Amino acid sequence: MAFTFFFRDAQTLDLAIDHFLPFIQSRRTITIWSAGCAMGQEPYTFAILLRERMGPNLFRNVKIYATDIDTYNQYVQVIGTGRYPEKDLQRIPPEIFSQYFRTDPADPGYVYISDEIRTSVVFKKHDLLTFEPIRTGVHMIICKNVLLHFSAEERLKVWKMFYDSLEAGGFMLHEHTQKLPEELNDCFTRIVMNAQIFRKI
Ligand SMILES: C[S@@+](CC[C@H](N)C(=O)[O-])C[C@H]1O[C@@H](n2cnc3c(N)ncnc32)[C@H](O)[C@@H]1O
Repeated sequence: MAFTFFFRDAQTLDLAIDHFLPFIQSRRTITIWSAGCAMGQEPYTFAILLRERMGPNLFRNVKIYATDIDTYNQYVQVIGTGRYPEKDLQRIPPEIFSQYFRTDPADPGYVYISDEIRTSVVFKKHDLLTFEPIRTGVHMIICKNVLLHFSAEERLKVWKMFYDSLEAGGFMLHEHTQKLPEELNDCFTRIVMNAQIFRKI
């Protein structure tokens, strides 16, 4: 089972949103790709953070494509229903929990993500090592704690695929330890010093 959790590195996600909001302000659809999304904790966290900042009307324009290799064919079911063990939600601030999750007396020990958030996320099974983008014109790619498992050559091919997939000026996010090689200096620019947040040149 992939290691991850709700609100993991929320500070970086929030920092990316600070820079992202002016970029997407006048767009009718906002397309985000969470690549290597595990069981949906990352895309659902990002959806909640965006919804908090954008409000309900603008948030309707957001579509998050969550993809994973999903080796055991489990993620489509979990992400599709948005059903998680209650103990996985212990780190979530109470006001976020009460607004975006609900319990069902008939299903004790589990919580369900709200329909507003659930319907903003679409899961697709996808192997990054096919180097095939899921779509083009993407405004942000979040790919955290995934590329570290790939070889340097594979990572480079994935970054070229991300480049092709992003709209000009689009954003790309990695975990703190993931650095970009110099070969990509003409493709991406790092926009903050304290996080791995890049924009397509
Ligand atoms: C450690 S989890 C990271 C989850 C989340 N991004 C985070 O940072 O918390 C790594 C995820 O990458 C996925 N993964 C590994 N190889 C992959 C590949 N070739 N294509 C797509 N996803 C892959 C795994 O299935 C797993 O869900």
